[in-house]
Amino acid sequence: MRNESLRPESIPPALAGFVPAASRHADGTLADKYGRHVTYLRLSITDRCDFRCTYCMAEEMTFLPRAQVLTLEECLRIVTTFVALGVTKVRVTGGEPLVRHNAVWLMEQIAGLEGIKEVVVTTNGSQLDRFAPALLAAGVKRINISLDTLRAERFREITRIGDLAKVLRGIDAARGAGFQRIKLNTVMMRGRNDDEFIDLVQFAVDKGIDIAFIEEMPLGEIGHGRESSYFGSEEAIARLQTRFALLPSTETTGGPARYWRIPDTQTRVGFISPHSHNFCDTCNRVRVTAQGELYPCLGNNDAIGLLPLLRAHPGDDAPLRQAIMKTMGIKAKGHEFGEQMNAPQVVRFMSMTGG
Ligand code: 5AD
Ligand code: SF4
Repeated sequence: MRNESLRPESIPPALAGFVPAASRHADGTLADKYGRHVTYLRLSITDRCDFRCTYCMAEEMTFLPRAQVLTLEECLRIVTTFVALGVTKVRVTGGEPLVRHNAVWLMEQIAGLEGIKEVVVTTNGSQLDRFAPALLAAGVKRINISLDTLRAERFREITRIGDLAKVLRGIDAARGAGFQRIKLNTVMMRGRNDDEFIDLVQFAVDKGIDIAFIEEMPLGEIGHGRESSYFGSEEAIARLQTRFALLPSTETTGGPARYWRIPDTQTRVGFISPHSHNFCDTCNRVRVTAQGELYPCLGNNDAIGLLPLLRAHPGDDAPLRQAIMKTMGIKAKGHEFGEQMNAPQVVRFMSMTGG
């Protein structure tokens, strides 16, 4: 049940002027001026990570000083306010969320909020052998694990420091813990892992889990030629069809992936195609970074800083609520990653905005 006092008709007249008409939909959820309902929040709880994936980070990264990062209590205030405004799904991301001390506490608090249907996590898997049972007990139902290769040396090259064996142990720990769904995320890179797509799908089939292939997005200046490594979904599908019977599926997990099923297996194969298929018209999400910036669109630099508001009004969530509603008014119609893969239209790193 949502907090009744937040129903649109009860917004005090004094505040009504700050609220663009498009920010609340008749059903009480957040909506933007294009009529899209925002029910899904992606929250980055740290910009830090124990890997340095080449498509995500520069080799030398400067991380945020602690005082500029949301405390977990501030994270919870933000999530609580979004949930009161109709958000039902929260994804906790990073950086690597599980390197943050007490991350599981936060997830448990979020899962316990009235109105929340789903808490999900995106992780690189490095800490899952320790945390998988605790995550499940905290109320996390689904988990996405990044995995771009099954070869140890290659894994080390792509992540710069990661240990494949540890991640594979993490995947098994997650399977053992009994999550509703586990999905692997694979960023497609020509010449770097495209010869493994079939092996990665076979791995997912053997483990009884899902896999999604992601077209690389031009986020942040990372110093490798993205244009030459770009690999599109259509080509990947054609390649997988040489080995697997892929049946198109109308299923959705509420995100931008299009899914295929492999007959007689548990596995769904998804494709996230920001370049070849623009999915912005059904976008239902916004993002909050570890430093409390609310980005209504991943492909756009417009954002509103929530941290100063939180700290200026420690006992009062009304200014936060107003800022969130106002931000709906600036949600962009869509992203244009365009042709220029090497020139980042968006200057943030993925580890800042959280995937
Ligand atoms: N393009 C596409 N996917 C990316 N990820 C990180 N950076 C990029 C990028 N530039 C993926 C990671 C992980 C998720 C959080 O986002 O592989 O699966
Ligand atoms: Fe860390 Fe994920 Fe970025 Fe890799 S892609 S460096 S695992 S945040």
